[in-house]
Amino acid sequence: MSACNIQIDYENPQGLATAWARVPEEPSQERRRVLLEELEDLLGQRNAVLVAHYYVHPDLQDLAEGTGGLVADSLEMARFGKQHSATTLVVAGVRFMGETAKILSPEKTILMPEREAECSLDLGCPSDAFHAFCDAHPDRTVVVYSNTSAAVKARADWVVTSGCAVAVVRHLHEQGEKILWAPDRHLGDYVAQETGADLLSWQGSCIVHDEFKAAELADLKMKMPWARVLVHPESPRAVLALADYVGSTRGILEAAGTPMVETFIVATDNGMFHKLRQTYPDKTFIEAPTAGSGATCKSCAHCPWMAMNGLENLRAILFAGTPEVTIDPGLVDRARLPIERMLDFTRADALRTAGLVPHLGAA
Ligand code: 13P
Ligand code: SF4
Repeated sequence: MSACNIQIDYENPQGLATAWARVPEEPSQERRRVLLEELEDLLGQRNAVLVAHYYVHPDLQDLAEGTGGLVADSLEMARFGKQHSATTLVVAGVRFMGETAKILSPEKTILMPEREAECSLDLGCPSDAFHAFCDAHPDRTVVVYSNTSAAVKARADWVVTSGCAVAVVRHLHEQGEKILWAPDRHLGDYVAQETGADLLSWQGSCIVHDEFKAAELADLKMKMPWARVLVHPESPRAVLALADYVGSTRGILEAAGTPMVETFIVATDNGMFHKLRQTYPDKTFIEAPTAGSGATCKSCAHCPWMAMNGLENLRAILFAGTPEVTIDPGLVDRARLPIERMLDFTRADALRTAGLVPHLGAA
């Protein structure tokens, strides 16, 4: 595969805007072998640990795990990076993940193979417009998804990921709080439905998950009644309605372990299939349909910004050790509070719910 520039249309408060992603060329087998060897050495020399998201290239995921790093969802990436003793964290993912690592570990050097790797949710929620939204609703507790800038997080009472959004909002709803939510409207809708909370949502969306098509998924389910459907909650409501399980990337990985179910239709970025197939080699994973009516070039079910991370740019950043991820010092302390609140809450919540696993039932 040769390098390509992908044009991406995403939603922001003014309507549709355009961004770009440059996806690197696949190295030859020989170059790949050399790079992997070199990268292992460079990580050691820099006292660095690689933390990768499930959506990045399989080579980066395998390298992370093979060198003492981690492949995870955004919640565990944040927790692992903060706790790890390495002096340099290398974050293979998108910009908000590198920024979260820096906010939580300001004393560490944070490097990313590609600092221009964006996220449509982050881009679609500019901090000035978001601050105006908050100012207009001062009676609401501000809960933001981690897929946001440091400036947006700094305005939040809570940061959440898809792995804990329902539990956090349920807790706040039980305290009688009304919620201002940003930026993903589908996740906000799902959280409101699950918790009964009074939740006012920003209207952003993920360009990958927004493309899953309910009618085509319903057809596929009819053809394969033995399959179970696993869906990430950034997908539209009609798609979530067809799910046997809704959860974060890590939740999807755990749900695929359900005994007696051999076939799963999965509605999330197809980078996830590497870890699913590695973990459950005897099971079958099928991509949920995206190419229905209204399909666009975004419908390949792979995040173009996650795809910007490659072995060559990882080598370049490790070799140079710069540029580091930096955050406006005026924002760091304020943005850390709602993230640490999430980490504390999920630690306590995990203890409360220890032993509970998603149960889908046998086919
Ligand atoms: P997770 O928190 O489930 O890993 O999701 C992050 C993300 O960007 C999904 O598109
Ligand atoms: Fe953002 Fe969607 Fe890409 Fe995740 S998959 S980083 S939510 S654009």
